[in-house]
Amino acid sequence: SRQWRGVLREYADRLNVTDATPIITLGEGGTPLIPAPALSARTGAKVWIKFEGMNPTGSFKDRGMTMAISKAMEDGAKAVICASTGNTSASAAAYATHAGITAAVLVPEGKIAMGKLSQAVAHNAQLLQVQGNFDDCLDIARDLAANYPVHLVNSVNPDRIEGQKTAAFEVVEVLGDAPDFHFVPVGNAGNYTAYHRGYSEEVARGATTKLPRMFGFQASGSAPIVLGHRVENPDTIASAIRIGNPASWDLAIKARADSDGYFGAITDAKILEAHRILSAEVGIFVEPASAIGVAGLLERSEAGLIPAGATIVITVTGHGLKDPQWALRTADGSDVTPTIVPVDTAEVASVLGLGKA
Ligand code: F0G
Repeated sequence: SRQWRGVLREYADRLNVTDATPIITLGEGGTPLIPAPALSARTGAKVWIKFEGMNPTGSFKDRGMTMAISKAMEDGAKAVICASTGNTSASAAAYATHAGITAAVLVPEGKIAMGKLSQAVAHNAQLLQVQGNFDDCLDIARDLAANYPVHLVNSVNPDRIEGQKTAAFEVVEVLGDAPDFHFVPVGNAGNYTAYHRGYSEEVARGATTKLPRMFGFQASGSAPIVLGHRVENPDTIASAIRIGNPASWDLAIKARADSDGYFGAITDAKILEAHRILSAEVGIFVEPASAIGVAGLLERSEAGLIPAGATIVITVTGHGLKDPQWALRTADGSDVTPTIVPVDTAEVASVLGLGKA
């Protein structure tokens, strides 16, 4: 048996890495592709979940960050900067500290999940809470990188998308072919773009003849691509994708056209419903934004737009432990309070509804 070596080493021949590139890795990638019989039964399709919460910092960002930080090191960078709704900052902080350089991160004040904030602090980032939204943070990060000696590691940095395309390679390797559809959450639309690129490269090298239809989903209160215009004050409980002016908008529009894809909007109520289905029926715990692809599949399926037997991969992008509070609320909005019992076996058995064996 051998240990997975991280995406830069596993896919060295398909990425822009050379002997001169220091490989900064925490072992990212190689994440499980999990069959989801509960979702197959609901839709009549063959549904698989690509569980990106299993990456070292708990999100898909690590695939792009290993590449971005390694290339920054190759360029002699001493400091990196990013704007983030939380996951990019957690990832940048971990990879920068592993490389021995500084990460400065700009996050919207009070708008990122506690787990992600904790990660950035724990990994020694210079964390600044900006009195604005994510789009404001990204504007400042771009300004700083243009005018000061600091390297930008948001997905406007092409190295990020390059690293993230490896997830599509893994899917083709496991399935032996590309799926018919690939569903992803959309914020900046970097990951949507990355999967499309990865699958396109698989077609180009003859590993598959199929280019999956790329289906991306934004939260209804934060759906600029669906609406066709910027959203000034994006709003959704899915804080990871609360973005009004996506950085990779143009690339994503091209990827949609090329793949006969789709962008849809999903309400927060439907996101939380999908979050419950993933947790309670599939056994996969994700943060709210990550459930939106499942909500999107259910919506498309109910509209009769998913052919029976189609192979579907849904990427769930971030781990549930980053933002766990949503599990403790029921569909009608009341709090879940676990039952308290005395230290008494008979009493516990009775509360559990167990009869004597
Ligand atoms: N899912 C999660 C959990 C995310 O954190 C993000 C983006 C996305 C989906 C959307 O991916 O931006 O490539 O379309 N999070 C960024 C961040 C914005 O700062 O962590 P995208």
